[in-house]
Amino acid sequence: MTPEQTTLSGLARDVRADFPILVTDLDGKPPVYLDNAATTQIPRHVLDAMYNYYCNDNSNVGRGVHTLGMRATDRFMRSRERVRAFLNAAEAREIVFTKSATESVNLVAQGFGTQVVSDGDEVLISGLEHHSNLLPWRRLCERTGATLKVATVDEHGELSLDSFRAKITERTRLIAVAHVSNVQGTVNPVREIVAEAHGHGIFVVVDGAQAVAHRSVDVRDIDADFYCFSAHKMYGPHGTGVLYGKAEHFERTEPLLLGGGMAPIASYDGPLVSVPPLRFEAGSPNIAGMVGIVAAMDYLDDLGRDEVGKHDAALAVRAAEGLRALGGITVYGAQVPRGGIISFNVDGMNPHDVGSHLNSFGIATRTGVHCASPFIDSLGIIGSVRASFGVYNSMEEVELLIASVKTA
Ligand code: ALA
Repeated sequence: MTPEQTTLSGLARDVRADFPILVTDLDGKPPVYLDNAATTQIPRHVLDAMYNYYCNDNSNVGRGVHTLGMRATDRFMRSRERVRAFLNAAEAREIVFTKSATESVNLVAQGFGTQVVSDGDEVLISGLEHHSNLLPWRRLCERTGATLKVATVDEHGELSLDSFRAKITERTRLIAVAHVSNVQGTVNPVREIVAEAHGHGIFVVVDGAQAVAHRSVDVRDIDADFYCFSAHKMYGPHGTGVLYGKAEHFERTEPLLLGGGMAPIASYDGPLVSVPPLRFEAGSPNIAGMVGIVAAMDYLDDLGRDEVGKHDAALAVRAAEGLRALGGITVYGAQVPRGGIISFNVDGMNPHDVGSHLNSFGIATRTGVHCASPFIDSLGIIGSVRASFGVYNSMEEVELLIASVKTA
């Protein structure tokens, strides 16, 4: 199967040629890239946008009156507005550029969490969080004397509103939860969790890293206090992340870094920091990354985010069904996956061995604990094989995955 052959169907047939890395051979085989939850591949449209930025507009921002300086500044400011529109945030000052979703969560934990969480309080997370939505909260609790509590997931890895309700007390100050699980694609009821939390005066931070490439996200509809994601899981470049925060929360949030760009005038005794969002963006920004994330957003919106989500979920549904039908395979999570991710194990085999076996067919999956050790432990396993789908994956590739697992 190669992209030139007519075996690709649906969305994959339309978009595959947009991705240069997928039209090359890997060790003589066409790449079957099913590790999209770790990093998505980048379409030519995004690569060209970053290349063109460096060829035509590269300079620093807000620091020069020369033509290139003004062009770079213009790209930078337009990027923030594009991200605002992508999330339907109310104002561009509610959008902060970071280097990753991980940095975004750390900024909230250290810059905002320390303002609202004190000794004796509680921070509530879910039992399926990525380490980046666990460790920053553990440290916040250790530093403030608060307690970390965990809302439990059911036997299918589903997280109900009731599991949060059961753990909310009058000391709960903050909830942190993934929009979509990076291990098995569970889609969490974040809108309902936020509504419940706000009824108790609790702030909510949503990790959208596995959501934004697979569905429309409207932060005003979800009403989360903070929402974050990374570009490299949504067809954009590495090293670029976003933190959305409500304007009133950013007003009281301390920056992680201090330096150039975040205070228009610095002195020996005047104010240390200026206003959001620049307050949180000390140092020269990753302008090409911002150009890249904008191009990725345009690419996704041209395809239609909800259409992409249906495509990815349909592949996950068929993969789960086909693998279960083989027998001797455990597929974790709901019977009908709703995100674009599945996790499974071949009975009696180490997941890394299964991953290596799949690699011999050109199939890239992720194996291990997926940076979610507590959740993997709660399943009573040492790890799993994860297949995660994107716009360029096809049903034919899913069938190849199933057939290749069968030979394991
Ligand atoms: N967070 C990424 C994953 O789940 C790296 O694979």
